Amino acid sequence: MTAVLCDRYGAPDTLWLDEVPIPAPAPGEIRVRVHAGTVNRTDTATLRGHPFFARAMTGLLRPKMPTLGMDFAGVVDALGDGVSAFRPGERVFGLSPERFGAHAQYLCLPADGPIARIPGDLAFDEAVVGEGAWYADATTSLLSEGARCLIYGASGAIGSAAVQLAKARGAHVTAVVGTRHLELAQSLGADRVVNYETEDFTALGERFDLVIDAVGKTSWRACRPLLTPDGIFTATDLGPGWSHLFLSGWCALTGSKRVRLPFPENAPGFVRRLAGLMAEGRFRGVFDRRYRLDEIVEAFRYVETGQKTGIVRIDIL
Ligand SMILES: NC(=O)c1ccc[n+]([C@@H]2O[C@H](COP(=O)([O-])OP(=O)(O)OC[C@H]3O[C@@H](n4cnc5c(N)ncnc54)[C@H](OP(=O)(O)O)[C@@H]3O)[C@@H](O)[C@H]2O)c1
Repeated sequence: MTAVLCDRYGAPDTLWLDEVPIPAPAPGEIRVRVHAGTVNRTDTATLRGHPFFARAMTGLLRPKMPTLGMDFAGVVDALGDGVSAFRPGERVFGLSPERFGAHAQYLCLPADGPIARIPGDLAFDEAVVGEGAWYADATTSLLSEGARCLIYGASGAIGSAAVQLAKARGAHVTAVVGTRHLELAQSLGADRVVNYETEDFTALGERFDLVIDAVGKTSWRACRPLLTPDGIFTATDLGPGWSHLFLSGWCALTGSKRVRLPFPENAPGFVRRLAGLMAEGRFRGVFDRRYRLDEIVEAFRYVETGQKTGIVRIDIL
């Protein structure tokens, strides 16, 4: 099979395409013939080995996983011993957050992992929506019905998912985006859309129960005046000078809940819930450019610009 390989941390051009043996599913695993994948900020950060402490999980000196790629959609192609939850030929999508491996024609995963059937006749390339949504879920899970939240940077993979997941939780959502994404934020269901290029979002005269920095471009200091007395500031990125990391650590030590940097959990449960939301028409992917597998270096370079809208897809033929 064709796979994108990496054997060291570095820039996108350290990746190369090669022919490798098709993996055999171990007991309890399924093998998926991958048709669509993505390049996302988890893939780009993992390739760079940034932040350094993340190498405790991905490998100290070089990446443990020979192939990156966290999002996949495809067809179940073979079953390992003891698997009864899936049948060959079923269309599935999901996440591979530990082993990665979706930048290849075949991928083996535990059958009880983050995998779900693709709802209805949704195309493979519309089902690769997991990565940003999983991170978005870690922050929006802090919301309850009727809560008011502000999502800063609602045009990226995480931000665009966060708007939809917050609405699905019954929250009132104010989305902050740049001029080119105003219509997108509205179409995702935001109750109010603020243009950060023409308005000072910190001076809206409103208070929020939750402020989410979905792109790591604002700060607790700037957003503090926006919060209700019990309001929480949360982020998906370490923030300027790792400030989000230090503040959330300080809050954890002092018992305060004001600044949180939640890590996504329970990927299998989340992927099944996401499939349900997609089937009900309450969640959809927001897609930017698409690339072929042999254009993966270009895809990584584009994602690293930090300018994508939603998700960058990879067609895997
Ligand atoms: N913890 C992890 O392992 C992990 C995993 C995934 C992502 N992350 C982090 O989470 C953040 C979001 O990831 P993502 O994939 O959603 O990002 P993304 O898709 O790359 O976000 C890009 C979007 O952000 C917008 N943007 C850029 N600068 C902005 C600014 N100053 N204010 C508001 N919006 C701005 C861009 O549009 P405009 O420039 O036109 O506004 C673009 O649409 C990233 O910082 C990423 O590193 C962390």
